[in-house]
Amino acid sequence: STHKLWGGRFQAQAETWVDEFGASISFDQLMADEDIEGSLAHVKMLKETKILNGSDSDQIIAGLENIQRELHAGKLHFTVENEDIHMNIESILTDEIGPVAGKLHTGRSRNDQVATDFHLYVKNRLPKIIDEIQTIQKTLVNLAEDNVETIMPGYTHLQHAQPISYGHYLMAYYSMLKRDVERFQFNMKHADISPLGAAALAGTTFPIDREFTAKELGFNDIYQNSLDAVSDRDFALEFLSNASILMMHLSRLCEEISMWVSYEFNYLELSDKYTTGSSIMPQKKNPDMAELIRGKSGRVFGHLIGLLSTMKSLPLAYNKDLQEDKEGTFDTVKTLLPALKVFNGMISTIKVNKDKMRHATENDFSNATELADYLATKGIPFREAHGIVGQLVLKGLQNHQNLQDISLDEYQKISPLIDKDVYEVLKPEVAVERRNSLGGTGFASVKKQIQIAKEELSET
Ligand code: ARG
Repeated sequence: STHKLWGGRFQAQAETWVDEFGASISFDQLMADEDIEGSLAHVKMLKETKILNGSDSDQIIAGLENIQRELHAGKLHFTVENEDIHMNIESILTDEIGPVAGKLHTGRSRNDQVATDFHLYVKNRLPKIIDEIQTIQKTLVNLAEDNVETIMPGYTHLQHAQPISYGHYLMAYYSMLKRDVERFQFNMKHADISPLGAAALAGTTFPIDREFTAKELGFNDIYQNSLDAVSDRDFALEFLSNASILMMHLSRLCEEISMWVSYEFNYLELSDKYTTGSSIMPQKKNPDMAELIRGKSGRVFGHLIGLLSTMKSLPLAYNKDLQEDKEGTFDTVKTLLPALKVFNGMISTIKVNKDKMRHATENDFSNATELADYLATKGIPFREAHGIVGQLVLKGLQNHQNLQDISLDEYQKISPLIDKDVYEVLKPEVAVERRNSLGGTGFASVKKQIQIAKEELSET
């Protein structure tokens, strides 16, 4: 037999480079806390159910608590030879308390152990992520409040469509992030299920108490099927999917920020603190942080596709493929948290060039719908009104004349119903202010959205 913890039936030793290939300790040591926590719950249960006697259990508990302290003091040393975090901790425990450490693994397998650790890992990180998203939501609401009456062109197909309130625009992102929060909250439901006690795949003959360990670890629910318990990674897939959608949202806003700080738009200016210069072009102020958040969305999407691909075609129950679930998930957490923080800093220090935004709606035809609506309210069927305004736009483009520059005489030639109040209607702020249909960009409607958002945020 070899010296590995499972070496009994082995005669030959793997080469170091084979061990290195199979080992996960380089990354799963991130779950060291969760692993010790899981082992503590398990041994307390073994004591409670009298599967182990009090003296053995107490030695193991004291040993694990000591390892926990050493971990927090940065004193633990892990080895590739011990493959993963589970066997490293068990091996350290053996060094510290002797052969009684071998009783810890009674009625347990690394398969339910790793599933437990991984559930705890995801579960423990969700609140922080939700918190960071809500911080951004608050910033968006504050920014929206300052910009209810900031007029800008609203776009479809990147063409000027209709003037809108910048506050309204910001509240659209608030709404996206609200769904992100809800998705991560729902994620908790599936992360919060205890697989501990499923053992290798089939349960155990020991009279274990799964309710005890679940309660000890703060799990809300227990897997009802041991095969499912050790092979389910839906909670991680949901996490990666939620993270991907969130990053997609941030990336869209980052894309617009990058465009809007350009010379051509100049709608926004980023703080020096969230921009960088060029090593050759002295005038440059680059929106690097926005670009990097946009860029990092790609790696998060990659992790989702990676784990989905790993899970696809995986037969029940545990397979070593499942070891591939961790790095992408860890990296997603590592990517998400600073991205959210930087994003919030970036948008809370943004300068809005209100005049530039307003100005962009002056020399365009984004008030064309206003004129068509005006004609429609005077009794001209909307389709006909649309046609009339279309012709005016065509003529205006040829003569470099906007709708507000057409004389009343000319208008009255088109229809005697047109009066001088048409010029009021053609003003962008009037166009925006009046769009108070539910969810519209009207000032009152945007204020209403902000008020509802504040109530939602105060409930969190
Ligand atoms: N390091 C493994 C993982 O991450 C732990 C479980 C290993 N179990 C096994 N039977 N090989 O999935």
